[in-house]
This record gives sequence, structure tokens and C-alpha cells, in this order.
Amino acid sequence: MTTAVANQPVSVRPNEAPIGAEITGVDLCGDLDDDSFRKIRDAYYRYSLLIIRGQAISPEQQIRFTRRFGDLQLHHLKQYVLPEHPEVLMLSNIVENGRTIGLADAGRVAVWHTDLSYLKEPVAGSTLYALEIPYSDTGEVLGDTVFTSTFAAYDALSPELKSKLAGLRAIHRMTKGGYESDKEKSASRLQYSDEQKKNFADIAHPIIRTHPVTGRKCIYINPLCTDGIEGMPDSESLPLLEELYAHCTRPEFTYRHKWRKGDLLMWDNCSALHLAVMDYALPQRRLMHRITLKGAVPF
Ligand code: SIN
Repeated sequence: MTTAVANQPVSVRPNEAPIGAEITGVDLCGDLDDDSFRKIRDAYYRYSLLIIRGQAISPEQQIRFTRRFGDLQLHHLKQYVLPEHPEVLMLSNIVENGRTIGLADAGRVAVWHTDLSYLKEPVAGSTLYALEIPYSDTGEVLGDTVFTSTFAAYDALSPELKSKLAGLRAIHRMTKGGYESDKEKSASRLQYSDEQKKNFADIAHPIIRTHPVTGRKCIYINPLCTDGIEGMPDSESLPLLEELYAHCTRPEFTYRHKWRKGDLLMWDNCSALHLAVMDYALPQRRLMHRITLKGAVPF
């Protein structure tokens, strides 16, 4: 069985932005032959974001595709994983029995981030599959996701800033980003249990990260979870971090994805930040399935 669509070879079309490439000629319902997979994998490491449209896949098929890239990381928010497939985290604003069926805060907080950077071994990559997409009354797609290339952002730093940042480590904290500091309680707010909080101590990661596969350098901080720089007073570190966030998210490094039902995106959490645009609300429903890949200690 092959997944190349009949008479159509797998092809890779890079975006104009320095991040993302659309992959065509693939049907992820089947097994990928090795040549097709190699082409897709090369594009993933080169462009940090894959866009594969027009899929109709089951959780098993999304798991199988993601697993081709490495071991999977199970999410600690057990309340939002598919009971029969704990590898799959639901992201959704749909409310059932008084609570959202998935993690709604990924969109709710609308802050640039990279997934699970507060882990000692942050997740390497994520696949996100669109099952329900919100639309405006006039038929416009809502709930876009914006991506930025932190490879491009690193390349564009001045030599002075590159050498200032070399060797610095930023602190990443699970409970930054308004989760616990925000006392608002609602069906869509994420609450961590004491047990969950205990398991996630603050962690320091290099600000300039070397990609574990390609060796390229990128900037590894994000305003959702990064909270200061080791050994530097906040009066100095916070303005520096703000300057870097503004730099990383300059429009020329970004790509904005307009979702269609059946899209599967896959991004590299080392070299890309993303932002979920929260411009919709019930009864406009959004439902996505996310799977993450285990990562390693950043260096
Ligand atoms: C995420 O933040 O991991 C998901 C982004 C989205 O829901 O658009």
C-alpha cells in the first residue's frame, strides 16, 4: 500500500515566507513508502512547518504518521486526551457537561508559544488535524494559526546580539501565561491540579538553541512560558526578552494558516513559534486533534 495519490508524486511547495511548505500527492490513510516519507521528513526539517491539505484520517492514522518521525509524548492533561487514544490531545472550545471537551486555552490565551517548552525535554514536534473549523456569519474562516521561523529570526540578529545571547539560558515555567495567575474560572479555563504543578519545576533552556537534527541555530524563548534569564535581574532580562519576542515575530518571518477541515499541519517546536488566533466563540465550533513527539534536552 502506498499513500502517494494515484499518478501524483509527492511534491513540496515552499511558502513565500521563510517557514512552511505545502505537501501534495499524499493520502495519509495509507502507509507512506520510504521515499515519500524521506521527502516529507526533509521538508519538515528544512521548512519547520508542513501543510498537508485534504486528509480524512482517523486518530490511528494520525498517530501512525506522527510516529514515523519518532516516539510520541503523552500529554499530562489527561482530561483532554481521547480515552481510547491517549496520544491524541483534543483542542476545542466545544462544551459538554459543563466543560470544554478539549484544551481551549491554546487558542484562548492567544500568545506566541512553542508547545511544552517548560519540560526538561520539550516536545520536538506537533501534528494538528482539523476536524471542525469555525466560520463567521459571512462564511469567512476563523481561528487561524500564525507561525514564525526562529531560524530566520536568529539569522537576522546583529552579530553583537548573537554574541550577547550565546550561553544565556532563559527560565521556562508551566504556570506563566495567565493559567494560574488568572483567577478567572470558566468552562474554558485550564486549571492545574496540585499534583500536576508539583511535577513541573521551572527549567532553564539555552536562548540560542542548536537544532538537534540539522545543527542550525534558532532562538528558543516564548512569551507564554519564558519568565526571565538565569543570573540576570528582571530589570535587564525582561526588556531583553520583549525585544527578542518582537524580533522573532516580525511579519517577514511569519506565515498565517487559514484552516480547512481535513488539514494536517506539522511543526517543529524547536525552530517555530505559533499563535492561535482567538476570533471566534460558540456557537462557532473548533475541534482539532494534536499529537506531540518526544524531544531531548535542548543545547
Ligand atoms: C497549539 O497552540 O498547539 C494549537 C494551535 C491552534 O489551536 O491553532
